[in-house]
Amino acid sequence: MVAPETDATGDGVRRRDFINIAAVSAAGVGGIAVLYPLISQMAPSADVLAESTVEVDVSAIEPGQAIKAIFRKQPLFLRRLTDAEIAEADAVPLSDLRDPQSLEERTKAGQKAMLITMGVCTHLGCVPLGAAEGEARGEYGGYFCPCHGSHYDTAARIRKGPAPTNLLVPDYEFNADGTVVTVG
Ligand code: FES
Repeated sequence: MVAPETDATGDGVRRRDFINIAAVSAAGVGGIAVLYPLISQMAPSADVLAESTVEVDVSAIEPGQAIKAIFRKQPLFLRRLTDAEIAEADAVPLSDLRDPQSLEERTKAGQKAMLITMGVCTHLGCVPLGAAEGEARGEYGGYFCPCHGSHYDTAARIRKGPAPTNLLVPDYEFNADGTVVTVG
């Protein structure tokens, strides 16, 4: 015998709909019960966070040079801009930018030449070229992501290609004489 399609509960909900609703509700409750312990395990404790800061001596980086470091298992680019690269970044009207930000906003006061960003393309996460000597720096002289052709300028701002935003500037501080950067 086939189950009646209509109004078995007397309130207009068909039996099949009721079974579906009951199944979805059970899945919802189960989902919460399983997810909570996962989320609480994922939240890093304070000591883990403290360990994940990184100190980099930037005093030996010459204008026009960049170095790579690792921060929280991801590449970090530290680059000392030349005067020409600073002028190039400053000459770009913010209205021309996909993710409008001045070089000043992306660096620390008094340290405009020291550009510190994550080395992770904001499109799909490849590591852009341009931080090592001889690597392509793209059409705008900053970084170039060869995965799908994103070009970043001398302030590591996205100028061409699919990446939606500028290379991320992490939280960091300089020591008193500006020679060492603590990131994190
Ligand atoms: S991941 Fe860089 S352009 Fe796609």
